[in-house]
Amino acid sequence: MSSNIQLSMASSSSLLLNVVTWSTIFLSFATSESSSEAQALLDWKASFNEFEQSNLRSWSMSGRTSSPCKWFGIICNQAGSVTGISLSEMILYGKLDDLNFFSFPNLVRLSLSSCRLCGAIPAHIGALSKLTHLDLSGNDFFGKLPLALANLTQIVELDISKNYYIEGELDPRLFTNWTKLTSLQLQSTGLSGSIPSEIGNLINLVQLDLSHNKLSGSIPLTLGDLSSLTTLFLHSNQLHSLIPSKVGNLKNLVQLNLSYNNLIGPIPPAIGNCNNLVQLGLSNNFLSGPIPYTIGNCSNLSTLDLSNNTLSGAIPPAIVSCSNLTNLDLSYNTLSGPILKSLTNCTYLHTIQLQGNLFVDNITEAYGVHPYLSHIDLSYNRFYGKLSPDLGKCPNLTSLQIQGNDISGAIPDELGWLTELQYLDLSSNQLVGEIPLGIGSLSYLRHLDLSRNKLSGPIPEELENCSNLKYLRLSNNYLIGKIPSQLDSNLVNLNLSHNNLSGTIPYSLSNIASIDLSYNDLEGPIPDSITLGYYPPEAFSNNKGLCGKAKGFPSCFSSPTAIVVSPTPIVKTKKGHKVMIFVTASLCNAMFLACVIVGFLLFSRRKMRNTQIGIGKKKNGDLLSIWNYDGTIAYEDIIKATEDFDIKYCIGTGGYGSVYRAELPTGKTVALKKLNGLEGEDPAYQKSFKTEIRVLTAIRHRNIVKLHGFCSHQRCMFLVYEYMERGSLFCVLRTEIEAAELDWIKRVNIIKGVAHALSYMHHDCTPPIIHRDISSSNVLLDSELQAYVSDFGTARLLDPDSSNQTILVGTYGYIAPELAYSMIVTEKNDVYSFGVVTLETLMGSVAKTIMLNDVLDPRLSPPADQLVAQDVVSVVMLALACLRSDPRSRPTM
Ligand SMILES: *[C@@H]1O[C@H](CO)[C@@H](O)[C@H](O)[C@H]1NC(C)=O
Ligand SMILES: *[C@@H]1O[C@H](CO)[C@@H](O)[C@H](O)[C@H]1NC(C)=O
Ligand SMILES: *[C@@H]1O[C@H](CO)[C@@H](O)[C@H](O)[C@H]1NC(C)=O
Ligand SMILES: *[C@@H]1O[C@H](CO)[C@@H](O)[C@H](O)[C@H]1NC(C)=O
Ligand SMILES: *[C@@H]1O[C@H](CO)[C@@H](O)[C@H](O)[C@H]1NC(C)=O
Ligand SMILES: *[C@@H]1O[C@H](CO)[C@@H](O)[C@H](O)[C@H]1NC(C)=O
Ligand SMILES: *[C@@H]1O[C@H](CO)[C@@H](O)[C@H](O)[C@H]1NC(C)=O
Ligand SMILES: *[C@@H]1O[C@H](CO)[C@@H](O)[C@H](O)[C@H]1NC(C)=O
Ligand SMILES: *[C@@H]1O[C@H](CO)[C@@H](O)[C@H](O)[C@H]1NC(C)=O
Repeated sequence: MSSNIQLSMASSSSLLLNVVTWSTIFLSFATSESSSEAQALLDWKASFNEFEQSNLRSWSMSGRTSSPCKWFGIICNQAGSVTGISLSEMILYGKLDDLNFFSFPNLVRLSLSSCRLCGAIPAHIGALSKLTHLDLSGNDFFGKLPLALANLTQIVELDISKNYYIEGELDPRLFTNWTKLTSLQLQSTGLSGSIPSEIGNLINLVQLDLSHNKLSGSIPLTLGDLSSLTTLFLHSNQLHSLIPSKVGNLKNLVQLNLSYNNLIGPIPPAIGNCNNLVQLGLSNNFLSGPIPYTIGNCSNLSTLDLSNNTLSGAIPPAIVSCSNLTNLDLSYNTLSGPILKSLTNCTYLHTIQLQGNLFVDNITEAYGVHPYLSHIDLSYNRFYGKLSPDLGKCPNLTSLQIQGNDISGAIPDELGWLTELQYLDLSSNQLVGEIPLGIGSLSYLRHLDLSRNKLSGPIPEELENCSNLKYLRLSNNYLIGKIPSQLDSNLVNLNLSHNNLSGTIPYSLSNIASIDLSYNDLEGPIPDSITLGYYPPEAFSNNKGLCGKAKGFPSCFSSPTAIVVSPTPIVKTKKGHKVMIFVTASLCNAMFLACVIVGFLLFSRRKMRNTQIGIGKKKNGDLLSIWNYDGTIAYEDIIKATEDFDIKYCIGTGGYGSVYRAELPTGKTVALKKLNGLEGEDPAYQKSFKTEIRVLTAIRHRNIVKLHGFCSHQRCMFLVYEYMERGSLFCVLRTEIEAAELDWIKRVNIIKGVAHALSYMHHDCTPPIIHRDISSSNVLLDSELQAYVSDFGTARLLDPDSSNQTILVGTYGYIAPELAYSMIVTEKNDVYSFGVVTLETLMGSVAKTIMLNDVLDPRLSPPADQLVAQDVVSVVMLALACLRSDPRSRPTM
């Protein structure tokens, strides 16, 4: 075979003029050469594992032709010889050594990026004398770069980046023959030693990236000869030298990054010659001296990052010439003097970081119109003056940090215009006055720190609107009044210590990872939900009169006062007023033992300040009033609305007790679940009742039915919930018209809602809550067909300290099979029931055995929209995963 090739190749040149013969010979030439190429490729393929081989199915000699030109990833010239091999992103797990490069005399492009190739880069790669493009990036090659690479004299682009095990020094001889090279990418390998000055031979180089290596020594002066360079990345090495002034020769530079090295000395003023620079990064070095005024010549600069050096002196006013500046980071230097005015004309600024310097400036004059500004950090400087209302003119601000300065005056209410704000830190200043109410408009706010100021007045109730708040720190101020009762349950870090706050600790504060309420005037119980979190007692120390289970505090039950807590949902009325449910304690009556008092009160902020919230009114002398809804509804209203729980208002039965619908005089409809006379005496029912109260008062989620209140008295035990117009999912699915209305999108939405609720109970509550009776009857739908999980009578708190053994509860058909033999409660029991509900929602009823093709509710036509169909299918798959018999292999919520 091989002698045959030789012969044909020799003949081809001598017979060129004879057209007929030529074409015959050409054919044989092509076939012969490509057959050697094909063989080399097949030999390489044979060195892979079976699985990787199967990825290259087209690479085979089947059929009449031995030409590889139609194989996957192979490119040929017109003569049928291989000029390109491009297998980027194919997982091969092979070695390059097994590819015989001598068989590819015409190869121009070799792209093998991210192929998981390992072993050494073989020396015979030097045989590819025509190669112009070599991409071996993102593999696992190890060892040194072979000197044979210097043989690639035609190379234009060379990329061996992201091969973390390549090691050794850069051989200067590599740079002798690469005269056509325009792009050299050797970043993120293990190259060490210094950068050879011969690199200056690569005079056509446009991009040079040697970043993220272990290169040391100095930056060679010859780099200044590479005048075509537009990108020079040497960052994240151990270079230790001055920045050569010759950098000023690189007039075409667009990106220069020398950050994360050990560079010393000044920033050379010659940098001003690089007036095409768009990105300049010199951060995290040991650069000293001033910022050269010539920087103003770089009028295209968009990113200027000089952070974490020891630069000093004042900011050159010329920085205003950088009218295209979007990111300015001068943080952590010792820069001083004024700066803010020079930035007023940099309209496109997106990020300003000046923290950790010695800037002294009047912040009042700082505001230009910065429509794009999103991130500003002026912290730990010596800024003074007042925050100007013009602050509101930065509509895209998401992060504002001015902590650790000398800012005085009040916080302007215009802060509330910054509706995108997520991070606000004004701590450790001299701020006075009240916290502006406008803060309630900041619905994305996650982090609010106003601590260590001189703020006075109350904590605005408006903070309750900041539903994303996770971190709230108002400590070390002079705040008075009560802690807002509805601070969102998303809070994970709360510090209100060292103020003059009074009143009780709201029950809504649960699931908080870190809390400090010490040094205030608080009194009353420390809610159980908080003590469950095992906070150090110091978190509550030095208050007026707190009690509870926390160590070092008196029990709240030592007096005959029964203290009961209420659920705490926020209800928004049409007028936009908030309805707050407040907590109070009541004395036991001689006749009636403990009766829970829960009140709803409509109030406005002003009312709140001027009048004390009244507790439930006494009615009928000894009967403690139970309800105070919108200030007008009482226990009697409920009795009246249901004609003393007349059967005609009964709309169903729950896990225990009957459910009634009550239309209150205000027009609001609520659902009541009432234990009947006999049930009320049954300890099992009483337990369910109490569990439901316990669970629902501790949790709040948009897909969990809201408990508005309850009466827990021997004579009348009932719960008051949000009314769900559409009843249970079970009923809706069994009514033809309603089921048809429940289209695929709504069904998937319902399933998602239940999943959200369960995920919240399992993963966001401490201890986790297991419902134990998830079924379509216990999923309620509101008028918008949104799902709400209800009926928590059998729920269990998964307390890690107590046994989770239990008796069997739940609804037949929904109970996980493992509960038949092991009575251990885990959240996977709910996952199983969720799987059943999910399938039921899609199928319309629960079936014993399931065929995938008739899984979907036949009353609906199959989903037509591709996206909806995908959703439905993935929901089916998910449901089946939830139904796996081994609880461990079920997914978590
Ligand atoms: C490098 O090129 C020279 C001359 O072109 C050739 O003799 C030598 O074999 C090549 N080296 C390798 C390793 O391919
Ligand atoms: C550079 O190319 C010349 C001629 O092609 C060759 O003789 C020499 O060996 C090459 N240098 C290196 C270091 O490979
Ligand atoms: C500013 O850039 C111009 C070219 O646009 C150049 O001639 C001049 O020397 C530069 N000035 C400084 C101070 O770098
Ligand atoms: C420079 O490189 C560092 C490290 O990778 C990076 O964080 C920084 O954003 C880069 N700076 C510029 C201006 O490109
Ligand atoms: C600024 O950016 C714009 C658009 O990106 C560009 O046209 C302009 O040349 C840049 N330079 C200056 C100095 O404005
Ligand atoms: C500044 O540099 C020091 C020392 O190199 C380093 O420890 C620190 O993390 C850096 N700070 C920032 C903000 O990059
Ligand atoms: C900002 O621009 C205006 C109008 O171009 C100019 O009058 C003013 O001097 C500039 N401000 C600064 C601080 O350069
Ligand atoms: C605010 O940011 C958004 C997205 O980041 C951007 O599309 C919008 O143009 C910005 N608004 C202004 C006024 O710059
Ligand atoms: C800061 O600037 C404002 C507005 O120019 C001025 O009214 C105020 O007196 C200045 N504050 C101080 C402390 O200089």
